[in-house]
Amino acid sequence: MILIIDDDPAIRTSLTYLLRHHGLEPVAVGSPDEALPYFRSGTPRLTLMDMNFTRSTSGHEGLHLLRQAHIFMPSLPVILITAWGSIDLAVEGMRNGAFDFVTKPWDARLLLQRIDTALSLSADARDATPGETRQFDSAGIIGRSPEMRELLATVERVAPSDAPVLILGENGTGKELIARAIHLNSRRAAAPFVEVNLGGIPASLFESEMFGHVKGAFTGAVASRKGRFETADGGTIFLDEIGDLDPASQVKMLRVLQQHTFQPLGDSRTRSADFREVSATNADLTARVADRSFREDLYYRINLITLRLPPLRERREDIPLLVRHFLKEGSRTHNIPAPEISSEAMTLLSRLPYPGNIRQLKNIVERAMLISGGGIIGADLFRQDAEAAATAGPDCAPVMEDTPATLADVEREAIRRALRQHNGNLSATALSLGITRQALYRKLEKFNLNR
Ligand SMILES: Nc1ncnc2c1ncn2[C@@H]1O[C@H](COP(=O)(O)OP(=O)(O)OP(=O)(O)O)[C@@H](O)[C@H]1O
Ligand SMILES: [Mg+2]
Repeated sequence: MILIIDDDPAIRTSLTYLLRHHGLEPVAVGSPDEALPYFRSGTPRLTLMDMNFTRSTSGHEGLHLLRQAHIFMPSLPVILITAWGSIDLAVEGMRNGAFDFVTKPWDARLLLQRIDTALSLSADARDATPGETRQFDSAGIIGRSPEMRELLATVERVAPSDAPVLILGENGTGKELIARAIHLNSRRAAAPFVEVNLGGIPASLFESEMFGHVKGAFTGAVASRKGRFETADGGTIFLDEIGDLDPASQVKMLRVLQQHTFQPLGDSRTRSADFREVSATNADLTARVADRSFREDLYYRINLITLRLPPLRERREDIPLLVRHFLKEGSRTHNIPAPEISSEAMTLLSRLPYPGNIRQLKNIVERAMLISGGGIIGADLFRQDAEAAATAGPDCAPVMEDTPATLADVEREAIRRALRQHNGNLSATALSLGITRQALYRKLEKFNLNR
């Protein structure tokens, strides 16, 4: 199958006609979003790709799509279609691994010739390289729902490449776990995995933290210290809460990610490090790009591949699996025998709303396990959680299906309720919701709540 990607319907029609007439099997789509599933499934033998999509005239989008295609299908031949006069873009595309390019309007015979050449060369290359198979290590990620299966399949495909990955998802959905799985299944697995919480680094400390400093670089710098990028040399750097990066730090971050070089404070020499970046955020980055609080170029740089973690309430079939997993894990860490759980208790747990997602479920299960003291865990142990959810709103949990309330309403109520329960104590509230204090602060602000 030959994949044609062009936002101009007339071009799609004429290319489809031309290729079909030549005995090929064309499929035409109009946007990068529609093209990605084809790359993910690995079906095209070649792609004809327009570089100039309407959303951005710079060609940024076309180049981005080209890189994405090659992450999923490293040896896929790509022939670029560029507007007449945009040779620079074509050259940039070739530098990024395109096989060839044609400019509009094209000579049909010449185009078909190039397609044939590309197809025969890539067939030769395929025959020459024996397929390597490696066992995928799921890093303890539990989940058999269709959403999780698809996500893990994508993780498996992108992990071995050096592609920057952006992980999106609510608090406690497992973003960090996925980042670790990517590292574990990459060629960097034996090197460090360095986690940085960017939300916790003030702008004034960004450079010394990330780039390091030498002794005496500033008051208090009593010894030299390696920065995070240098520590991650050879491995993976996990840029957590990247949506919270302030504008000045965004510029610095972009530069390091592009050049892989940096200068420790007080040092005149430039250092370099070989790292792969995986980022995560629970912020709506596209909205931040739109209102210009997050740089578009940095956004494109970090999210060659986007992974979206579904909230737990959207994949409830995973809850029993997770409960059993946490019971087993808890029995090991607390050194107590793994308790049984009654079926009513399991049913109840399967219906809670979980604004704090998997982390919250884990806390609830662990707490019940400790209270039950090794006996059978019954539904009564979760009555409080169910009540909290139920009083959070008439349409909320325990039965969440088909509720007219928005998720935001449910979340707001759950937080309000938890705050009241803990007399406004933020640490206790955050703990009971399974989110960090920082996340709680953000949510209070977002929902306009106070203690
Ligand atoms: N699919 C899963 N299987 C088993 N455990 C999981 C899974 N997802 C998350 N967990 C566990 O849930 C907890 C929260 O996960 P993690 O820290 O990765 O979430 P997060 O999305 O990074 O949260 P935050 O946004 O608050 O930083 C961890 O203890 C993690 O081990
Ligand atoms: Mg996290």
